[in-house]
Amino acid sequence: MDPALRHAWSEIVTAEDYEEHMASIGQAQAAAELSHHLIQSASLPAGSRITIAGAGTGQMFDLLDPAAFRPYHLTCTDLNPAFLARLRARLTRYGLDAEIVEDDIERTTLKPGPDLLLAALLLEHIDWRRGVEVFAGLRPGACAIILQENPPDVTSAVTPGRRLPPTIAQAVETAHPALVPRDRLIAAMAARGSACRESAIREVADGKRLIGLLFAGPG
Ligand SMILES: C[S@@+](CC[C@H](N)C(=O)[O-])C[C@H]1O[C@@H](n2cnc3c(N)ncnc32)[C@H](O)[C@@H]1O
Repeated sequence: MDPALRHAWSEIVTAEDYEEHMASIGQAQAAAELSHHLIQSASLPAGSRITIAGAGTGQMFDLLDPAAFRPYHLTCTDLNPAFLARLRARLTRYGLDAEIVEDDIERTTLKPGPDLLLAALLLEHIDWRRGVEVFAGLRPGACAIILQENPPDVTSAVTPGRRLPPTIAQAVETAHPALVPRDRLIAAMAARGSACRESAIREVADGKRLIGLLFAGPG
C-alpha cells in the first residue's frame, strides 16, 4: 500500500470530515444503495456470513435499511480504529451485532470462507492487484466490489476545485487514490476463478459514477 495513503487513512482523515465529504458528493448514498442491491442479488440464506472489508465508519448503515443485515453474521474491518469505533456505535444504535476487526486487508488476518465479501471504494486506496489476490485467498462464496469511475477527462479521484473538509484537503496534498479500471478488475478476478455475474451503476457528483460488481466465488 502506498505509504501516503496509509498515513492519510490512519493519521489524517477524521470520521466527521470523511462522512461530510462523501455525503456532499453523493457517493455515500450511492455506495449504500449499491451495497444493498448487491447483497439482495447475492440471495444469501439467513445465517450467512458477510464480511465488509474497509468498512470505514459504517456511514451506509444510516442510508439503507439496516434490517437488510439482520439475518446475517457480520464482520466489519478497517485500517482505522477511530472509524471502527464510530461504526460500532452505529451498529449498536441499529441493534446490529458484528465482529469488528482492525485489519490491513493487504496483510489480512481474517478467517477465510465468508459467504459474501463486500468491499466498497477500498481497492482505489490499496494495491488493487494485491486486494484481488487477498479476496481470492479468502475464498468467499461471492464478492461484491464497488468502484468509482470518472468521466474520461477527469483523472484524479478527488475533483480539482471542489471545496473539501479540512482533513480531506490535507490528505489529498500527498495521498492519491488510484482508480481501478473496471475491465482490468473483471479480468483479474476471472483469472482467479471469479466470474462477474452482475453490474449496477449509480450517478454521483461531477459526472462520476459508482459501479457495483457482483462476482461468483472462486472455484
Ligand atoms: C473511501 S473509504 C470507503 C469506506 C467505506 N467502504 C465506504 O464506502 O464509506 C476507504 C476505506 O478503506 C480503509 N482502508 C484503507 N486502506 C486499507 C487497508 N489496507 N486495509 C483495510 N482498510 C483500509 C480506510 O480507512 C477507509 O475507511
